[in-house]
Amino acid sequence: MDFKTQLAGAGGLAALAADALLVVVVGDALPGGLDQPLAELLAAAVKDGDFELKSGKTLYAHRVAGVKAPRVAFVATGDGAVKSLRKAMVTGLGLLKGGGGKQLAVAVAGGGELGAAHGEALAGAVGEALYLYRETKPSAPPAPRLHAVSLVCAKTEVAAVAAGLKRGEAIAAGATLARECANRPGNHCTPTYLAAQAKKLGKEYGLKVEVLDRKDCEKLGMGSFLSVAQGSDEPPRFIVARWQGAGKADAPVVLVGKGITFDTGGISIKPAAAMDEMKFDMGGAASVLGTLRAVAQLGAKVNLIGIIPTCENMPGGRAIKPGDVVTSMSGQTIEILNTDAEGRLILCDALTYAERFKPAVVVDIATLTGACVVALGHHRSGLFSPDDALAAELLAAGEQAHDPAWRMPLDDEYGEELKSNFADMANVGSSRDGGAVVAAMFLKRFTGKLRWAHLDIAGSAWNSGKAKGATGRPVPLLTHFVLSRAQ
Ligand code: BES
Ligand code: MN
Ligand code: ZN
Repeated sequence: MDFKTQLAGAGGLAALAADALLVVVVGDALPGGLDQPLAELLAAAVKDGDFELKSGKTLYAHRVAGVKAPRVAFVATGDGAVKSLRKAMVTGLGLLKGGGGKQLAVAVAGGGELGAAHGEALAGAVGEALYLYRETKPSAPPAPRLHAVSLVCAKTEVAAVAAGLKRGEAIAAGATLARECANRPGNHCTPTYLAAQAKKLGKEYGLKVEVLDRKDCEKLGMGSFLSVAQGSDEPPRFIVARWQGAGKADAPVVLVGKGITFDTGGISIKPAAAMDEMKFDMGGAASVLGTLRAVAQLGAKVNLIGIIPTCENMPGGRAIKPGDVVTSMSGQTIEILNTDAEGRLILCDALTYAERFKPAVVVDIATLTGACVVALGHHRSGLFSPDDALAAELLAAGEQAHDPAWRMPLDDEYGEELKSNFADMANVGSSRDGGAVVAAMFLKRFTGKLRWAHLDIAGSAWNSGKAKGATGRPVPLLTHFVLSRAQ
């Protein structure tokens, strides 16, 4: 997609050169300053009861006399907040994307000055509205013809809007990559596939990508990660991808993504209902790849390292059993009381591995617990960190990116449940209560002196029901976070 800014010119919106025009109408009153005959059309539609100035309402008109663009759509948005505009743009794009238009111009009527946030919102909305999973579905409708989108703005707004479009485009591409990976079925998206994706990304965007195999991980003593992998015939991979945008001496941001390409639960097997959704259990890994792509595409002056432990969690003759004790890379032993609490088992070794990079901060991203979905639903990611400043940074990044998180507690009391008579700790608590926090407390034991935060994206990374599929989150949050740490 080609994103640009467009000046309205002397003839106004009516004379705009575009195949389609989307007018986002802000507020609950007819906007002043809208060019004729668009203003008249809008007023008449409202008067006739065919259009309401209420959030989400749309109106389509074809070949309006006096308007150069053959397709015109209006979409109302309650207020002028960027979040509302973005939502309205997605709705409006839904109306126009299936048509014959190749170049779309988007104008905002009745709002205030346009800036970077508006450009970013438009690019994000286009990514969201146009995405469709096609990879294993030949019968899916073909991609829309739309290939250029512009935001109509004033001369004084051009620089900021263009910068926002660029950022939004990179984030949208990163989120799309994450969605593509996470939507891909477990028999296609294997650890080997994820490693190949990382290598490919490395070639395209100048990342250094290293892929460790089972033997390499054995040498490193990753007994916890490998214990999850041992139940599957699919070989595990440990992916390390580095973007060096800043000086060598600059401490990197490290992102660690859970890459369980399918989670059956192992011997503590999951119920059959909705088990298919466990192909998304590499959503954390996918978001790390997506963020690397976005950050590298923008050429950000920051050092970023993505670490992805990836394997399948399967039952089988060689699989771990409840009661088994394994030794993590940190030397701490773990009694595996529930083989379905596998995410923490692969992440703990990755967190230990991260120490070697002397990171500025480490953030792990994982579809870690069903309990987090119970607590927060699908809207906000769960954020856990003992570091108030880091937590505040991540929360702010989420708000800016319209990819919000919510801070959860990490009191020591929650960790008491992890006591074991047979190892340094158990991998689950004695009850289900507060399961998302207990899981985070487990991870915390492997973070030593690191500045660390954990994002539980079990709810935010995908939608269930009719719109079942990956969301690409939290690529927007992570990208904002990493960019805010760039020089
Ligand atoms: N991948 C799941 C968590 C999950 C569940 C993500 C539902 C998305 C939707 C994780 O590996 C898991 O199975 N967690 C268990 C932990 C329990 C055994 C302590 C859970 O949440 O039930
Ligand atoms: Mn599990
Ligand atoms: Zn899992």
